[in-house]
Amino acid sequence: MSAFRSICPASRLPVDRGVAALVDGEQVAVFRTADGDLHAVSNHDPFSGAMVLSRGIVGSRGDRSTVASPVYKQVFDLATGECVDDPEVRLAVHEVRVRNGMVEVALLTRALSA
Ligand code: FES
Repeated sequence: MSAFRSICPASRLPVDRGVAALVDGEQVAVFRTADGDLHAVSNHDPFSGAMVLSRGIVGSRGDRSTVASPVYKQVFDLATGECVDDPEVRLAVHEVRVRNGMVEVALLTRALSA
């Protein structure tokens, strides 16, 4: 795992909206869900190839928090990165925390480059 990098003040992270951040050269989409949980996944949509997941639509499937791609609408589990309609496909999931009021992200896996 790489080091934690500061992204933005936690107060600037809107509930149920994503923000895009560049962490050690990788584009990461960071979300805060309504229950207060933070999630960081790759910003790269494997279906469209576009860097758009930070602009995806946050929702849920059962008790799983999800984000839907704004392009083709595939839905990904924010905790595992798994595409709920196609478990063969998953997003890289990264470590996210709040320290001293700042959202910090550490890359857990190198995102695959398309
Ligand atoms: S579009 Fe992100 S790596 Fe290809």
